[in-house]
Amino acid sequence: MKKQFNRRDFIKSVALTGVGLAVSDELMASMQPDRITSPYQPVPVGEPMKKVRIGYVGVGLQGTSHVENLLKVEGAEIVAVCDIIESKVQNAQDMVEKAGFKRPEGYSKSEVDWQRLCERSDVDLVYTATPWQWHVPICLAAMNNGKHVATEVPAAITLDDCWKLVETSEKTGKYCIMMENCNYDKVEMMILNMVKKGMFGEMVHAECGYLHDLRSVKHDMKGEGVWRRDFSMHHNGDLYPTHGLGPVMQCMDINRGNYFDSMVSFGSKTRGLHEYAIEKFGPDSPQAREKFVLSDVVTTVIKTMNGETIVVTHDTSLPRPYSRNILVQGTRGIVRKYPEPKIYIEGVSKTDDQWEPINEYLKKYQHPIWEELETASKGAGHGGMDYIEDYRLVNALLKGIEPDMDVYDAVVMSAVRVLSEQSIAKGNKTLKFPDFTRGMWKNKRELMVMTNPG
Ligand SMILES: NC(=O)c1ccc[n+]([C@@H]2O[C@H](COP(=O)([O-])OP(=O)(O)OC[C@H]3O[C@@H](n4cnc5c(N)ncnc54)[C@H](O)[C@@H]3O)[C@@H](O)[C@H]2O)c1
Repeated sequence: MKKQFNRRDFIKSVALTGVGLAVSDELMASMQPDRITSPYQPVPVGEPMKKVRIGYVGVGLQGTSHVENLLKVEGAEIVAVCDIIESKVQNAQDMVEKAGFKRPEGYSKSEVDWQRLCERSDVDLVYTATPWQWHVPICLAAMNNGKHVATEVPAAITLDDCWKLVETSEKTGKYCIMMENCNYDKVEMMILNMVKKGMFGEMVHAECGYLHDLRSVKHDMKGEGVWRRDFSMHHNGDLYPTHGLGPVMQCMDINRGNYFDSMVSFGSKTRGLHEYAIEKFGPDSPQAREKFVLSDVVTTVIKTMNGETIVVTHDTSLPRPYSRNILVQGTRGIVRKYPEPKIYIEGVSKTDDQWEPINEYLKKYQHPIWEELETASKGAGHGGMDYIEDYRLVNALLKGIEPDMDVYDAVVMSAVRVLSEQSIAKGNKTLKFPDFTRGMWKNKRELMVMTNPG
């Protein structure tokens, strides 16, 4: 009998060995089709809660910053903390205690001790900021134990895992949210507000990305450096598309009347991380002998079902100023955020065909969420947007309303990372986007940040 190709095993082996570069056409094609044949099953809206009891997993840089935010959000309570490093757990426990709450239970016995945390009966929400490969196992354990789950970006790093998140969220009726903090940045929210008011006309094109010189971070021998470097040695694609895509997707109503149709990625030559190692550690250093496969610049073009184009850039291995390259263009005007925010709207801007600063627009079109939360968010991570995302999540659960982002947002953004690797591996092949929503994307619905800004 002909042996059946087991897609899940294959994808797992690709992910583990990092050898997804020589994949046959047949295998590649079999990875694309939509997997779930059952109709879309929305997660039912929950009951209001008096408190949101949180189990936090992974309290490194970003996790600790979320814990700090959550301690300031009324109604949030951290009841358990997990990290493989015991001192990090203790640090988080101390923070919670110092803020006047009961000392949370600590979990640091093994790499999978989050399983015990997920099994606790007094946790409503599991929230993880672990390295990428742990997001999906933790999300699945949380939902299978009846908890809502929030994960740092990207939610998943294989297509199979994207489907598993969708399946499990629908099966368990639990939210699975990818915490895309850049959706809440001040300028991005102003742009969204203006898009929704029709100021740019009909959407036509957008640009975005993650352009951040991570050479020193990736050559750090501890913390995030270790796992980020490892991915750059085994994967060539846009490893981190969500920060730029999140806000742009919202402007284009992706999953809410629009969807990604297809995409193609191109990778440049690979130089930056190796040259940095030679310069910093010497040509005979162990670092200089490490081999990287990640292109210095990865460029992806996405076509949407409604006919817009999006150019996504990933650029983390060369000297450069930070940018997320946000640009949104419609039939009536254009706005960009970097290097500094500029706007042009035909018939509104003072001078024809000339950029102008956004200051006046910000006064008029600031998103109501920023009006409400700017003061409370002062001093929080990434200019305050991290506090706003944490506040919005807890508040939705307290009120028993739908959170701002759902599992489909999580997997659509994450899948761009996976497909960009596949596209490059296939010689820049244009790939069809899997429909994680099974047609639900055609239903127009408004974003919660627009219908429930308060
Ligand atoms: N949204 C943002 O702006 C932003 C910024 C930075 C990082 N991140 C994301 O946050 C996540 C963490 O990044 P970071 O920079 O904080 O990294 P980090 O290495 O500083 O923190 C990760 C933590 O997870 C712990 N950990 C590792 N394996 C674990 C396991 N099996 N169980 C429990 N704990 C485990 C580590 O000990 C560490 O404390 C990543 O997904 C990253 O992409 C997002």
